Amino acid sequence: MHPDRIRLPRLRDKVMSAEEAATLIHDGMTVGMSGFTRAGDCKAVPFALAERAKTHPLQITLMTGASLGHDADKVLSDAGVTARRMPFQVDASLRKRINAGEVMFMDQHLSETVEMLRNRQLKPVDMAVIEATCITADGGIVPTTSVGNSASFAILAQKVIVEINLSMPLELEGLHDIYIPTYRPTRQPIPLVSVDQRIGTPAIPIDPEKIAAIVFTNRPDSPSTVLPPDLETAAIADHLNDFLMREVKANRLSAALQPLQAGIGTIANAVLHGLLDSPFQDLRMYSEVLQDSSIDLLDSGRMTFASASSMTLSAGCYERVMANLARYKSRLVLRPQEISNHPEVVRRLGLITINTALECDLYGNVNSTHVNGTHMMNGIGGSGDFARNAHMSIFVTKSLAKGGDISSIVPMVTHVDHTEHDVDVLVTEHGLADLRGLAPRERARVVIDQCVSPLYRDALKDYFKEACRRGGHTPHVLEEAFAWHTRFRETGSMLSRDMMLAD
Ligand code: COA
Repeated sequence: MHPDRIRLPRLRDKVMSAEEAATLIHDGMTVGMSGFTRAGDCKAVPFALAERAKTHPLQITLMTGASLGHDADKVLSDAGVTARRMPFQVDASLRKRINAGEVMFMDQHLSETVEMLRNRQLKPVDMAVIEATCITADGGIVPTTSVGNSASFAILAQKVIVEINLSMPLELEGLHDIYIPTYRPTRQPIPLVSVDQRIGTPAIPIDPEKIAAIVFTNRPDSPSTVLPPDLETAAIADHLNDFLMREVKANRLSAALQPLQAGIGTIANAVLHGLLDSPFQDLRMYSEVLQDSSIDLLDSGRMTFASASSMTLSAGCYERVMANLARYKSRLVLRPQEISNHPEVVRRLGLITINTALECDLYGNVNSTHVNGTHMMNGIGGSGDFARNAHMSIFVTKSLAKGGDISSIVPMVTHVDHTEHDVDVLVTEHGLADLRGLAPRERARVVIDQCVSPLYRDALKDYFKEACRRGGHTPHVLEEAFAWHTRFRETGSMLSRDMMLAD
C-alpha cells in the first residue's frame, strides 16, 4: 500500500483503480487537471475517462496548467469528452477541433486562470485530478514535475482525485514552493524579492476529507519534443549574445544580466543553449518552463539558480535530473504558475524575457498564436504575462516559415498578442532590431534593415515607402496590409511573381 507515499493512514482506503475514480467525474463538470507543458500531468484517470465515455458519453470543461503529455488532449477530445478547454494546449488533434469550432478554447494569460476562479469569474472546479509524488502525514499533496495550477485547483475544487506516480522519486519532495496570494480585497504584496527565495510550503495544503480517490500510476512524463539547435537558431543566439555583451559594456547590465525567462519551443530552447558559449556568469532564471537548455546551463556552472513552474525535458536529460535530484534540488524551485508568471514579481525582479513570435509586423506588433489570423496554433501561454512586465522584452523568430512561402515579418500582423509597446527587441537569423526609444517610423526602418529575409525585404521596403507617402504616425496601406496573407491562402505562398523575379 506504499505507506511512504500515503502518510496519512486514514486515506489509504481511498485507493482505487483509475476506472473507478473516473466514475466520479460526471457530465457537465468542470475538471481541473495537473499538467504543464507535458510535465506532471495525470497519466491514468484522463484515459479511463475517455474509455468510459465510449459507453457513457459525457462532456466536461477541462482546465489544466498548460499542455498535457501522452496524447491526453487527443484522447479526450477524440472521445468527445472535452467540450471546453483552457488555458493552453499544443495537441494537433485538439487544435483541429478548436479550429473547426467543435471545442470552445479559452486562450488565457497563464497567470490569470486561477485568479479568475478564485474570484468566481469562471465556473467553479468540481473535481481536481492531481498527479502527486506522495501525500504527507497531514494530507498535503506533494506535486511531481510541475506545479502549474494544481495547488489552486485542489484548494478550490469540491473533491480531489490524487494520482500517485511511483516512477517519481520521493526526493522530489522539497523541490516545490506552494504560495497562494492572499485574497482580495485585502491582498498583500507577494513577498518574493529574489529568484531563489522560498515563500510557501513544500506541499499543497488541503482538507484531506476532500480527497475522494487515490490512484497509483507508474509512467514517466512524456519527453519534450523540441528539436536541436540549427544554423538559423544558432544565428539568432549569436545576435542576442552580441547584443547582451554590448549592453554589459555600456553598463546597462552586469555580467550576470537580469533573471532570464525563456518561452517554450525549439527556438527559445536553442537561444538559451547559445548562452553556454557566452561570457556571462552567475545567471539566474525566473521562468515558467525549464527545458534541457536550463539544465545544461546549471550543469555548466554558468547558471546558479532556476525557478519555474515545470520541467519539460528530453528523455536523456529527464533521466539525468531524476537520478541526481539531491544535486539539483538546492538550485531549483517549482512554483505555482500564478507566481512564476506574476506581473508583480516579473516587474520587481526585472526579467529579460525571450519569447517566440509566429509573425511580427514592421512596427513590432507580435502574433504568437493565430496562423494567418484565424487558426489557433497553441495559445499565448505565459508570453503576455512576461512581455508586458519585463525589464527587457525580446521576441525571436526565424525570418521565414514553410520553406520560404511565409515571411514571419509582415506589413501588418493578422492577430495581435503583444502590441508594439511590449516589444523592446526583435531578433531573426539576419539580425537584431533594438526598438527601444524609437517611434513607429524609426522602428520600421530598423526591422526592415535587420530582420526581414532578403526574399521579402524589397517588397516590405516598397510597402513602407507607399505607406509613408500616405502619412500617419503608424503609416499603412490598409488595402494592401494583408495582401501577403491573402496570397498565401490563395496560392500557398506569400511570394508574388515579382518578388521571385527580384530574387
Ligand atoms: N505562419 C504560419 N506558421 C508558422 C509561422 C508563421 N508565420 N511561423 C512558424 N510557423 C510554424 C512552423 O512552420 C512550425 O510548423 P510545423 O510544426 O508544422 O513544423 C511551427 O509554427 C512551430 O514553429 P518553430 O519554428 O518550430 O518554432 P517553435 O517550436 O519555437 O514554436 C511558437 C513557435 C510561436 C509556435 C511557440 O513558441 C508558441 O506557441 N508560442 C506561444 C506561447 C508562448 O510564447 N509561450 C511561452 C511563454 S513561457
